Amino acid sequence: MTVHTGRHFLQIPGPTNVPDRVLRAMDMPTLDHRGPEFAELGFEVLAAMQRMFRTKQPVIIYPSSGTGAWEAAIVNALAPADKVLMCETGQFAVLWRGIAAKFKLDVDFVPGDWRHGADVDQIESRLAADREHKIKAVMIVHNETSTGCVTPPLEVRKALDRVKHPALLMVDTISGLGSLEYEHDSWGIDVSVAGSQKGLMLPPGLGFNAVSERALAAAKANPGMRSYWDWQEVINFNKAGTFPYTPATNLLMGLKEAVRMLEEEGLENVFARHKRHSAATRSAMKVWGLEPQCQDANAHSPALTGVRMPDGHDADNFRKVVLENYDMSLGTGLNKIKGKVFRIGHIGHFNDLMLMGTLSGVEMGLDLANVPHRGGGVLAAMEVLKSRDVVSMTKAAVA
Ligand SMILES: Cc1ncc(COP(=O)(O)O)c(C=O)c1O
Repeated sequence: MTVHTGRHFLQIPGPTNVPDRVLRAMDMPTLDHRGPEFAELGFEVLAAMQRMFRTKQPVIIYPSSGTGAWEAAIVNALAPADKVLMCETGQFAVLWRGIAAKFKLDVDFVPGDWRHGADVDQIESRLAADREHKIKAVMIVHNETSTGCVTPPLEVRKALDRVKHPALLMVDTISGLGSLEYEHDSWGIDVSVAGSQKGLMLPPGLGFNAVSERALAAAKANPGMRSYWDWQEVINFNKAGTFPYTPATNLLMGLKEAVRMLEEEGLENVFARHKRHSAATRSAMKVWGLEPQCQDANAHSPALTGVRMPDGHDADNFRKVVLENYDMSLGTGLNKIKGKVFRIGHIGHFNDLMLMGTLSGVEMGLDLANVPHRGGGVLAAMEVLKSRDVVSMTKAAVA
């Protein structure tokens, strides 16, 4: 067994590094989840999550992974045979579509090449053609974690409005929330889906749905079966700061502290930081001569960068070399891009020097694994982090 010293570098795009402050906040005796102390915590985290989603509408917190929150969105708002429009942006869109199919939704899946965000023009033309309004929901992945491409939910909302289509807009922002701008209310989102283990800097184990009045009304009218995921039942209990079943009490303690940290930094600064780190990573990748998985310059994810391996070189072999030699975990390529892509996570609890360490590990690993590249990527990233533009970009975000 290889012995490593110092800290492991966890640079996958989730689960992300958990700050010590959050770990300490969770290191507490278990609470009576029906007692007054818990209710206080319940009210606090529900309000905190409304601020994170930028909504005044209900947020449902589940003891679940993101997949549970995906399922909750479907079983509340949609019934078997309902038609929905989804877009093949990458592996997470494929997985959400798989759940929709299991619940017998009629999915119109717009094909994609896994190198761009969703094609908003295609969405608009399919909605325009649907004169009878058979499409009940448009379901998109905001930050496609498998590729590093972003689909702007506001553009999809505008497309729905332009053709005056009443379909619900459902957005997976599982790896977006807390890293990328997100506005549940002002962007007109009906159901937002998120998870704890990405930008929220918590361990896995919490799933979230933020829901609009229209989505709640759709759920009320929906005869489909559900129990554990039922929004209304959770909302009823939440009125007293409690939950219908045992909540993940210590994760909620961590959530309170994590949101406090994000708000101390200021959400605008958090978003600007992710953008800087993404820009610096791309400048390193350019010097290395490696290609981004995302081919749309306007769609690069602030949270992660998918990097394509040169032909004849296996991304997982490269990741193995980096893990064994530098004790750093990089994200694997998923499904049809397995072996072709590795992913650098620059999401969550992160800073400039952590990025420098990460990129150094990648550059040294490229050498060790004999992957053809040019040196100097780390220096290029350093220049981006020092540059005036980036400083003014951060200031502009603060102002
Ligand atoms: C965009 C996106 N959606 C959904 C999921 C699934 O979440 P989970 O693995 O927590 O069930 C993930 C997980 O990485 C994700 O990145």
